[in-house]
Amino acid sequence: MAENLTINKSHSTAEIYEQLLPQLEALIDPDIPVISNLSNIAAGLFNAFDKISWCGFYMKSGEVLYLGPFCGNVACTTIKIGKGVCGTSAASRETIIVEDVDKFPGHIACDAGSKSEIVVPLFSGSELFGVLDLDSYEYSSFNETDKIFLEKLVSVLINKLDFVQFKLL
Ligand code: SME
Repeated sequence: MAENLTINKSHSTAEIYEQLLPQLEALIDPDIPVISNLSNIAAGLFNAFDKISWCGFYMKSGEVLYLGPFCGNVACTTIKIGKGVCGTSAASRETIIVEDVDKFPGHIACDAGSKSEIVVPLFSGSELFGVLDLDSYEYSSFNETDKIFLEKLVSVLINKLDFVQFKLL
């Protein structure tokens, strides 16, 4: 497996997700480590949308989210549950869309150029595994459409991969 994903970037956000998600799902392989799968998901998302400046996973261990597979600039390595957008999403287990990061109290600026963000929690029942975080250098880059498709993607990951056995440390 070494082919590129086929995405038409001139299409709408929904159409891009509709092209992208089946291709990402086809890449998911439960027989290889979770971290390898998440790495390809981060790369696939990052390359599908010009609006994404950073895309990656933070994975939970204890009361901390640790930097996981990502694409983009170097980033904060540890985020406490309850802190920043990622930690708030992890604590509430809800997707958070931030149109202007300066208006989100406690936003953690890993990259000073980041203007908007969406964070989707990865959890099953009451167990939180981590979060998927997408950032943008433009304001209001993410909306309900992103939320719907990213939550769909995350639910596929949760169903196909063994996060219970996954150990970051
Ligand atoms: N902005 C995030 C931190 C992670 S970076 O954006 C990669 C937050 O406030 O949790």
